[in-house]
Order: sequence, then structure tokens, then C-alpha cells
Amino acid sequence: TDRKLNLQEQVKKLKKEKNAVILAHYYQEPEIQEIADFIGDSLELARKAAETEAEIIVFAGVHFMAETAKILNPSKRVLLPDLKAGCSLADSCPPEAFRKLKEQYPDHVVVTYINCSAEIKTLSDIVCTSSNAEKIINSISKDKEIIFAPDKNLGSYLMKKTGRKMLLWDGACLVHEAFSLDKLLELYKEHPSAMIIAHPESEEHILKVANYIGSTSGMLNFVRNSEHDKFIVATEAGILHQMQKDVPNKTLIPAPAKEDNTCACSECAFMKMNTLQKLYNCLKNEDPEILLEEALMEKAHLPIKRMLELS
Ligand code: 13P
Ligand code: SF4
Repeated sequence: TDRKLNLQEQVKKLKKEKNAVILAHYYQEPEIQEIADFIGDSLELARKAAETEAEIIVFAGVHFMAETAKILNPSKRVLLPDLKAGCSLADSCPPEAFRKLKEQYPDHVVVTYINCSAEIKTLSDIVCTSSNAEKIINSISKDKEIIFAPDKNLGSYLMKKTGRKMLLWDGACLVHEAFSLDKLLELYKEHPSAMIIAHPESEEHILKVANYIGSTSGMLNFVRNSEHDKFIVATEAGILHQMQKDVPNKTLIPAPAKEDNTCACSECAFMKMNTLQKLYNCLKNEDPEILLEEALMEKAHLPIKRMLELS
């Protein structure tokens, strides 16, 4: 822990010297969240990235988030502690295959969840995140058909919420598909007063038993404002750090994962590729950096801009 405190101090010092800002997602390691200038869900992080006047954005999150930050604020240097911090959901939608689907339905409006590559964003009419997806879908004229990619779980949840039929890409997040319904119900039997809260990337049978469904920030707000004092939390376990800080007297239980999962709860291995040491190194060396072609950034910016204007 001495080493940790020392590294955290050095990061803070470097950050000042270099006029850098650290943006972190709730799934990051606690020691990273502790030194972040801002912690948020995908939408809030995108907004912060667009607004910041710092010279350098250190993005403590995954690749598509850092990429979005660069697209929104291209004159800044955007650093990602580990370039391999990808996303299974983004990977489930390769551009070539998606382009082919889009060509088959040229009149469909293409809505893409922000968890996708910049190249997929260039093929999109409008981007959404889990916190504004319903609003975005509802903003599309009823006489238009919609392709939704890449998350089929979020997609079918949105179809139910909005009553719109959508053509869904068959993608999913490994972490949110790892929850076991059987174990969740067993746990609920032991804690019958608990509220079950879930991220909409979870499978339909999990969402069906949830009392609240929302983005990471949505879940945090729900727990903060709820009269209940016990929650079973079905999303990446990193969120429990901030949640417990918010509600020190409430009981938070991570939703259990299936037997064959590597850990008892659900952790995103990609999010956890960023460590405090790597964050320090990347700020010191200003590397690894997110570099994108100008034309790609311009094209990918349009659907993100539309999203921000609408939400
Ligand atoms: P949020 O926008 O809800 O923070 O979701 C990000 C994410 O990657 C969920 O797995
Ligand atoms: Fe991607 Fe899932 Fe990790 Fe979120 S939790 S970054 S959707 S792999």
C-alpha cells in the first residue's frame, strides 16, 4: 500500500505538470477510481471528454471509450493505459459483416450502442448509450425501420420498452451474459428483502426478475435514492466500490456468475487490464496513445454528435 500511495501521488503530480485529466469508468480498479478527476458512465465520460480543456486525457476505461473521447476532442492527446483493453461486445461486431447487413437494408436507420469500434460508428446514423437508448429510439420517426447493433440483450429490452420492432445484431457482452439465473434466485431466497438491479446488457431472464434496469450511473442513483437497504447488483463488480462509498450503511451483494466463470462474481477482464502502474507509465511516457485517421474521426463524429444533441 505504500507503493500504491506513492504511485498515486506521482500520478497526481504528473497530471498537474502535464495538464492532464483522468477520466475513469466505474468498472476500473478502486485505486484508479481514487485518483480520477471524474468517474462516470459511458455517456457522462463522453461529455466530459468533449468539454475538457486539459491537454491530455488519460482514459481509464476500455478502447472504444478512449476512441470516442478522441473523436469528440481530436486536438487533445488521448492515452489508454493498455491498448489491449478491448470489449467483447465491440468485438462481436466486425465492420465487414456489419457493412453487408446494412447494405441489405439500405432504408433502415442504423442505431449503434456506443460499445462498438469507430469504424462501426462510421456506418451508424445515431449512437446511444444505456442511459439514453430509449430516448434515442423514441426520437426516430415511427415510419422508419431500425437496425440495432451490437448488443442483442439491450436491443430486445429496448424493443419491449419502446414497442418498436428492430433488426438486432447478434452481439453480447461476455461479462453480463455470465450471470446465473438459478444462483441469482437462490441468493434472492436468502435475501428476500433485496432489490435486484441489473444492467440492460444482461440476458432477458435476468432483466425479467430485476426491480431496476439501468446504466451504471442509473444503478448508482437508484441505490442512493431508494428506501431499501439491500441490493443484488447484476453488473460488473467494480461498481460496488463507488456504490458502497455512496451508501455505507446499505448491503450490496454482487450477482453470482455461472459455475464455469473464472470468478464468483463478474469482472470485466478488459477493464481490469488497466492497472495503476500502467496508468502511471502511460502518463509519464505519453504512450500508448489513441491515434485515428482524420477522415474516420470526422465520419464517426456525426452519429455521436447527434446522440449528444438529443440527450
Ligand atoms: P455504462 O454506460 O452503463 O457505464 O456501461 C458501460 C459498459 O461497458 C457496460 O458494460
Ligand atoms: Fe465490454 Fe462487457 Fe467489459 Fe462493458 S463489461 S467493457 S460491455 S466486455
